[in-house]
Amino acid sequence: MSQVNDCVGIINQHVKNFKPEVGLILGSGLGQFCDNVKTITSIDFGSLPGFPIAGVGGHAGRLLFGQVGDTNVVVMQGRAHYYEDGKADVMAVAIQTLNAIGCKSLVLTNAAGSLVKEASPGSVMLITDHINMTGVSPLFGAESNKRFVDMSDAYDPDLNDAMRSSAEKNGIKLHEGVYAWFSGPQFETPAEIKAVKTLGADAVGMSTVPEVILARHQGLPLCALSVITNYAAGMSETKLSHEQTISFASKAADTVEKILISYLKNQ
Ligand code: HPA
Repeated sequence: MSQVNDCVGIINQHVKNFKPEVGLILGSGLGQFCDNVKTITSIDFGSLPGFPIAGVGGHAGRLLFGQVGDTNVVVMQGRAHYYEDGKADVMAVAIQTLNAIGCKSLVLTNAAGSLVKEASPGSVMLITDHINMTGVSPLFGAESNKRFVDMSDAYDPDLNDAMRSSAEKNGIKLHEGVYAWFSGPQFETPAEIKAVKTLGADAVGMSTVPEVILARHQGLPLCALSVITNYAAGMSETKLSHEQTISFASKAADTVEKILISYLKNQ
C-alpha cells in the first residue's frame, strides 16, 4: 500500500486541485488518443514507484492528466503484461493508485484477435465478459475476504450502455463479445483458438483481464474495448506478428477515438 501512497503524494505535487473522473488505459497502438486530451501535465511511469515499466513497442509509459470535453481524465499511456515478468499483479499499484486519486470508473482498451468472422480486423468490440485461460490471478496473496471478488457484471452494464450509445451516435458498428485472456507472449495455436471458441470466446488477447480483476477488487466500475487487429490463429492465411498488431491498432485508432471521445464527454 505504501507505494500507492507514494504515488498519490507525487501526483498531488504535480497536479493541484485535479479530481479525475475517468481513468483510461490505452492498449498497443492506441497512444494517439492522447492528442484529444487537453493535457494539464504528465508523469513518466518511471517516476511513480510500483508503476510498470512499459516495455512493449507501442506503449509510451506515461500518466497523463487532462480533460476531454468537461470530463477530467487520467490516462495510462501504456500498460504492462503478465508475460513480461510472469507477475499477474504487475498493474496492481497503478490500478490502486487510479482508485486512490478518485477515479470513479475505468475504461480499458486493448488489441485483440477476433474469433468471429463479422468482427474483422480494424473493427471494435465491446467486452461483455471474459474467460481467464491463464490459471493465475493478480489477487494471489491478497488478504481478507475482500479477495473473493464477485465477477458477475464485472463489465458494468450501465457503462456498457453508454459505450453502445457513443458508438451509435458516431455511426460505428460496435461488436460485442467475450474476451479470452491467454498469457502470451506467443500467439495462440489454431487448436487453442478452436478450444476457446467452443468455450464461448469471441476475442483473444494477452492483457486487460488482470486489470479488470484488480479494478473490481477496488470496487471500481469499468468497461473495456478491444480493437480487432487480426483474425485469431488458424482463421486466416495472414501470419500473426506484433508489427501487424501495432499497425492495425493504429489504423483502427480513429474509430476507437470517436467512440471514446463521445463516451468521455458524457461522463
Ligand atoms: N492473440 C493474442 N493477443 C493478440 C492477438 C491475438 O491474436 N491480436 C492482438 N493481440
